[in-house]
Parts: sequence; structure tokens; C-alpha cells
Amino acid sequence: MFYLSGFVGLLLVLTAEARVGNSSELDFCSETDECCLFDLICRTDDYEVRHYDSVSWVSTNESSLIMEVANMRAFRRLFTYINENNVKMTTPVLLKLSDNTKFWQSGTYTMSFLLPSKHQKNPPKPTDDRVYIETIPDMKVYVRSYGGWMLKIRDQSQAEALTTDLNSVGAKYKRNFHYAVGYNSPMTMFNRHNEVWYVVEDEPVCTSSEELDS
Ligand SMILES: *[C@@H]1O[C@H](CO)[C@@H](O)[C@H](O)[C@H]1NC(C)=O
Ligand SMILES: *[C@@H]1O[C@H](CO)[C@@H](O)[C@H](O)[C@H]1NC(C)=O
Repeated sequence: MFYLSGFVGLLLVLTAEARVGNSSELDFCSETDECCLFDLICRTDDYEVRHYDSVSWVSTNESSLIMEVANMRAFRRLFTYINENNVKMTTPVLLKLSDNTKFWQSGTYTMSFLLPSKHQKNPPKPTDDRVYIETIPDMKVYVRSYGGWMLKIRDQSQAEALTTDLNSVGAKYKRNFHYAVGYNSPMTMFNRHNEVWYVVEDEPVCTSSEELDS
């Protein structure tokens, strides 16, 4: 599969366009009308490589010793923004985490809601000064998916598993942070889908450890 990536890369250049779109295009994105769409560059047994176009998000920073607490405060603040401005909820929700925070330190988390296509260009101005509009530039990410609930301890072990796989194939990625990515409302009990993303540096590597072993 990985030898296709040059060709797929060429296609991406030709087809790059609005990438907030109908969630019917993604099977794990089922709770909102719109989702952040991407191009799959390649997939190994261990991870996927995706390309995301530059899109705008509404974000807020929050600190706490406990990720779940920061998460709840940030979610509430962003939810107020979308509610007050009649902005529809979309998926996924991104949580950016530093990988350098020691367990006794209070971590800073950036939570972001994807702006729907209608509000990508001219989003309503946030009234809370802790809420800001942010455009995350075009990027490629290494992705590992998992089910169930996104808890700090699970995100951490999934992030470690992904970096172990990436390191074993010599993949280069931004090491000081990752994204914890959620697709479900807290009320959803089944078929939950979460991801860990590391931002690709240089050319993406698409070799699974099994291929290296054989
Ligand atoms: C998304 O696609 C489905 C199926 O193609 C369609 O029924 C629905 O109206 C679309 N939704 C939006 C918001 O365009
Ligand atoms: C939010 O946190 C990020 C680090 O994740 C930092 O780069 C950024 O400057 C902060 N922004 C604001 C508005 O506090």
C-alpha cells in the first residue's frame, strides 16, 4: 500500500478543497451532520496516515492536574459559544496535550470544536475572551483508533503504543504534543470511537512492524 503514497499525494494536490463535509462519508462520524473529512494516504496494521486540509476551529485553553476536569471546563465553555451563536455541533472534538508534562504538574490542554462549513469563513466572534478562533494549517497525521471512553490513562497508553510503532519504523513526527480526538457525545454508550494523532514530519512512513520483521 505504501508505494501508492506518491500517487495519492498527487491526487491530493488536485482534489484539495473544502474539507468540512457531510458525515455520511465517514462511518465512525455518526452523531453530527458535519465532520472533518480527510484523505487517507495509507494504512498499516498499526496506524493510518491521513491528510487534513487547513480548517478553522473554535478553541479554548484550560489547565488542571486532572485532564478530565480541564476537559469538562473547556467543553462547557465551547458549548456555550456554539449555543449562544446557533452554531451546530460537529465532530471530531480535538484535545491538544503536551507530552512533556510530568504527572505532578498541571497540564495545559487546548480543546477545539470544528466550525461547520457555514461558519468556516466568518465565524461569530467569541464574547468570552478565553475562547478564540484558530486555523489549524494543512497537516498529515499518524492515527491510532480505539473504542470505549477517552480517559487520560487510556489516551496515554494509546499514545505510547503509537509512538512505539512509529519509532520502530523510523517515522518522524512532532514529539512534544499529540491530539486526543473524540467522535461521541458523553451520552453515547456503544460503538464509541477515539483516536490519537501525532503530526507527521518529513515524508510519512507507511511500513508496519510486521513487514520489517519478515
Ligand atoms: C448528507 O448525505 C445524506 C446521504 O447522502 C443526505 O441524506 C443528507 O441530506 C446530507 N446532509 C447534509 C447536511 O447535507
Ligand atoms: C493555548 O495553548 C497553546 C498550547 O497548547 C499555546 O500555544 C497558545 O498560545 C495558547 N493560547 C492562548 C490564547 O492562551
